[in-house]
Formats: sequence, C-alpha cells, structure tokens
Amino acid sequence: MLDLPMSSFVNLLEPLAGSLSLAEANPGDDRWWRLLGRLHPMTVHFPIGLALTAAVVELINIIRRRREASPFAITATGIAAVTAIFAAFFGWLNADFEGASQDTTLFLHRWLGIIGAGGLSIVFVTGLVGRTGVRITAFNGYRWGLIICAIVVGTGAHFGGEMVYGKGYLTKVLFPVAAQTSDDEAAPEAPVGEADSETKKISFQQDVLPIFEARCAECHGADKDKADLRLDSFAGIFSGEKEWWTVLPGDPDHSLLVERIELPEGHVDQMPPEGDRLTASEIATIRAWIAEGALGAEGAEGADASEAQVQGPPVKDPTTKAANAAKVEADRVAAAIEAAVEALRGRGVLVMRIAQESKEWEINGSLVSPKFADDDLALMNGLQPALVWANFTRTELTDAGLAGLDGFDQLRSLRLAQTSIGDGGVEAILKLQKLEVLNLYASQVTDAGILRLAELPNLKRLYCADTPVTPEGVAAASAVREGLEIIGSAASPAPTEPAESPSEEKK
Ligand code: HEC
Repeated sequence: MLDLPMSSFVNLLEPLAGSLSLAEANPGDDRWWRLLGRLHPMTVHFPIGLALTAAVVELINIIRRRREASPFAITATGIAAVTAIFAAFFGWLNADFEGASQDTTLFLHRWLGIIGAGGLSIVFVTGLVGRTGVRITAFNGYRWGLIICAIVVGTGAHFGGEMVYGKGYLTKVLFPVAAQTSDDEAAPEAPVGEADSETKKISFQQDVLPIFEARCAECHGADKDKADLRLDSFAGIFSGEKEWWTVLPGDPDHSLLVERIELPEGHVDQMPPEGDRLTASEIATIRAWIAEGALGAEGAEGADASEAQVQGPPVKDPTTKAANAAKVEADRVAAAIEAAVEALRGRGVLVMRIAQESKEWEINGSLVSPKFADDDLALMNGLQPALVWANFTRTELTDAGLAGLDGFDQLRSLRLAQTSIGDGGVEAILKLQKLEVLNLYASQVTDAGILRLAELPNLKRLYCADTPVTPEGVAAASAVREGLEIIGSAASPAPTEPAESPSEEKK
C-alpha cells in the first residue's frame, strides 16, 4: 500500500536503528530490559489518549474561537509528552527483545511513535510560552502542532495494532473482498487442482499475482527478497537455477511454495510468517495454477518463460554449437537425475545432495520397508553421474543383483553391511573404480573376496568384521596395497564402523 517511498527511507535508517540496538549491547542479563520492554503496551495508551483528548479540546476551542490555550489541554499535552517518551523507549526495547520482524510496519510504528513523542514535547513547551495567546506564533504553533501530533501518534498506534493483529485488520472489516485480493468479481471458484481440463484456466496475472502481491511481496519483492525469493513477478518466481525453484510447474505437491503456505498456523516455517494464513480459496488458486503448468503471462510454461525472460541474453555465442550441445546435455542429465530422485523417493528411499548446493548425491535404502531389493536398483537409473554415496545396509541385495550397480562409477562410498553379499558380488564391486570406502560388515564375503577387493585402486577403508574373513585373510589383503585399511574381526569383538554417515570422507 504505502510502500515504495517509505521503504527506501527504511533502508536509509536501518543502520541507525541497528546501532541503537540495545539487545546487542546487553547480551548477558537482560531480564529487566525485557520487563521494561513489556511495559510498552501498557504505557503506550496513556499518551495516545491524552494527546487525542487535548487535541479535541483545542479543536473545540478553535471552533468556539477561543484565543487562549486550554490549561487542561496543556497539562494533558505535558503528561502525554512524558509518557510518550517512556512508551517509545519501552517500545524500542520490546521490539529488540521480542524479536519483532524488522518490516515496514514496525518501522512506521516505531518512528511515528518517536516523532510523536518528540513533537508532543515541543508542543508542550510552545504551549507554555504561547498559552495566553499574546505570543501568537507560539500559540498557533501549539494548537496546530498538537493536532498534528495527535494524528501522528494515532497513526503510529494504528501500525502497532497491525503488528499485533495483522495487516489490514481495520480495513479488512470494511472491505473484506479487497483484502482477500481476488480483484476478480467472484473469487476464482477453486478448481482445486482437479485436472478437469474444461475448467477455466487460472491466469497468473489476474488470479495468482494479486495474492502474492498482497501477502508475500512485502518480503519477497523488490525492496526485500527474503531467502532470495521474489514473488512480485512471473520472472522472479522462476529466476535462478531450476533446482531451487519453489514452484515446480505441474507439481503443486512437491512445490516448496505450496508446502510453506499450507503449513498449519503457528508452524515456524509458515508463510506468510505472521498475520492471517492464506484463505483456502487462495491456496486452491495457487495449487490449480501450478497444476496447470504454472503458466505465465503469455501462456508460456514456467520453464520456457524463465529461460526467455530471466536468463537474459542467450548463452554466449549462439554460433558455438558445442556450447549449445553441452547445455542440452547438461539439461538432459539434470532431468534424468530429477526423475531418479523422484522415483526413489516414491519408494521411500532417502535421496539427498551430500551438501547444500552440491551436485553430488547420496542415497540411503537401508530404512525402506519392504526391504530394498535387487529390482529397486533400477529406480536409480539416471543418477549414475551424480551418485557418490550409497547405503544399502540391511537390504536384500544379492550378489547377482549387484550387476545393477553397473555404471555407477562415481560411487566413493558403498555400504553393504548386514546383507547376503558374498564373493559372488565382488566382480560387480570391482567395476566401481572410485570406491574409497566399502562396508561389508556382517556380510558373507571371505578371504578370497577381500583379496580381490584390495585391488580397487582408490579403496582406503574396507570393513569386514563379522564375516567369514579370517585375521590371516585381512593380513594378506592388507599386504596387497599400502594405505588400505582393513577393519576385520581380528581377535577383538567386531569394531563397527565409527560414524553412521560417510562424512569422514569429506576430509
Ligand atoms: C514478513 C515477511 C514475509 C512474508 C510476508 C512472506 N515471507 Fe516467505 N520468507 C520470509 C523469510 C524471512 C524467509 C526465509 C526464512 C525461511 O525460509 O523461513 C522466507 C522464505 C520463504 C520460502 C522459502 C524459500 C527458499 O528458497 O527457502 C518460500 C517458498 C516463501 N517464503 C514463500 C512465501 C509466500 C508464498 C508468501 C506469501 C503467501 C510469503 N513467503 C510471505 C519472509 C516472508
């Protein structure tokens, strides 16, 4: 609403506000500060009431053409000024300690309050000087200053109300439809994602964007882009790398944006973080839009449109076919990975990047029920170039089934502990030339098997406790290559692998 000019002003003053932060100044015992802060809601109503009353008294005097100040109004103004200063101070503490969100509403509330408090002090002094009406400038300054201050304080208080009760809690009563932001006549009769191709298509511009603008853009817009996410334009939604899109065209169920707006009231990750939740019909509209392919203004699908609109000038030199081919190939690989991740997740397998933003993935099939078995390896198809850690502990993989790992030659960590894998699976494992960690704890592998496995050129650690492997077998295999650590049963009871995650490989 009254955003644009104001919020650039906000940015100007933010450093100032930051340097005055009392919470930071007193990191230790802040109980008393907090208590004072919490007096804000109580104290703040005195100056508001007093200033408004004084202003009304003087307004009546103006109408009645009185040429001197009301002693009552001056006294009220004085008390209002003092209490306003306290209230402003407490308010500052309160916002600091209670972690109020640093948005435009707080900004307006805070600064209108402070301006009001300062203004009332000046008005009070002016009133003392000009009360008799002889010093006409002071007298007029007092009267009109008082009225202006009352308006400022009242407006500041209104924003305080919005902070507590949510944006637009006043206007919503009067204009409920406008507040729901569907500026179409009838709110789109939620076609709730029923893939009924005959229902009216959701229009991004008319149906979806207004919701984002009303409820999200204050934080995900041009002025602030929380989480680097912009929801104030079609291009903004699909900017950045596809993997990070919060809207997945055609797939509302897996769109982060939908997840966040559907979280129950009070959940830490709910969006918007405060104020009313989106209405059911707003959520249905957004879902339906995504289900229909998240089409943009010109009916372009999210994916295509974003490339056209966001990625700016077409990649480098269009004449270099090689570059284009590489891009196509990269897209194909990414799509294949995406498909595999989807398929595996559908089976309940844990699939994730090994670190945020990493291009390398790990999977964990050890927790799936019914147990992960040979056939399930087919679900991994597509992950070949990206899969680096795989955990198949306690799965039903068999020696023969390991042939399904053919091609996963980026694997660095493979866990087959507590499986029926034996020497028959060794041949398949030997193809994984980058393997650094291999866990065969409590499997069926024997001395002969580990002797072969010791040939893996990059293998650093091999776990084979609780197997038929003998201490002599361990010694023999260890002798094959320097730097290979084989952890077998030896004489001592099974030393199991230290960490559950292969993070020890991260060096
Ligand atoms: C008061 C500010 C505010 C409003 C309003 C707001 N958000 Fe957010 N949003 C945030 C902040 C801060 C984050 C980053 C922290 C987090 O993920 O919780 C965020 C994160 C998100 C994320 C995660 C982005 C990512 O890549 O991790 C999504 C999706 C999101 N918001 C959607 C919305 C939607 C949809 C709306 C409107 C219905 C909305 N937000 C309204 C402040 C806001």
